[in-house]
Amino acid sequence: MGKFIVFEGIDGSGKTTQAKKLYEYLENKGLKTVLTKEPGGTDIGKEIRKILLSKDYNIPPIAELLLYEADRNIHTSTFVKPKLHNGYFVISDRYIYSTLAYQSFGRGIDRNIVDYLNSLATEDLKPDIVFLLDIPVEEGLNRIGKIRDKDRIEKEDINFHLKLREGFLKLAEENRDIFCVIDGTDNINSIFDKILNILKERKLIQL
Ligand code: ADP
Ligand code: TYD
Repeated sequence: MGKFIVFEGIDGSGKTTQAKKLYEYLENKGLKTVLTKEPGGTDIGKEIRKILLSKDYNIPPIAELLLYEADRNIHTSTFVKPKLHNGYFVISDRYIYSTLAYQSFGRGIDRNIVDYLNSLATEDLKPDIVFLLDIPVEEGLNRIGKIRDKDRIEKEDINFHLKLREGFLKLAEENRDIFCVIDGTDNINSIFDKILNILKERKLIQL
């Protein structure tokens, strides 16, 4: 079995940057590694992602939840699990905790419903480790404002984003065995050093 490494955090927290650095590091060491993401880690998922992030649509919360879970079910069953069975490091930019943060803590959908759908979509596949990159909401929004047009979710107001950050921190408390909260305001290289040290300490990587 390979190792399943997940990055979580609010928009602009630096997940994509760190996930990519880790992918390049492991790949350079000659290890079997894939970098993937939710939503959009498969061909069908890319289509679902377009719908989810399009500013042309107004999607009701339950439909939004089901679309994220459909993407996840396809992603875990056709990509993540087969790769893990083949001994790969699977690095995913977001996973089930994003749905709890955005659709439950953010949109207010009953937590039990989201837990149930996460479990149904993944058959309870849990990551070996989750890096939560934690930054103040203003900083995240400021970072993404500088690089791109905000998508449908990023356009939500500041209160929505504040609920997400709180939600992620609560999830980290509830899942201390697998969550590592990292200060995302540090510079990119020191964050990456911390991540590597944690992976080594936990014997998830040997190098
Ligand atoms: P996410 O995937 O969480 O939305 P990204 O990795 O795409 O975040 O980063 C959003 C923006 O912030 C990018 O322009 C990226 O270069 C920048 N960034 C990432 N990490 C840091 C950091 N530690 N300090 C300052 N800027 C950062
Ligand atoms: P992502 O591409 O990770 O955005 P970013 O790089 O800006 O962090 O994710 C797309 C958006 O989808 C993001 O705003 C978070 C949201 N999302 C949910 O609302 N629920 C989910 O279950 C997932 C996986 C993502």
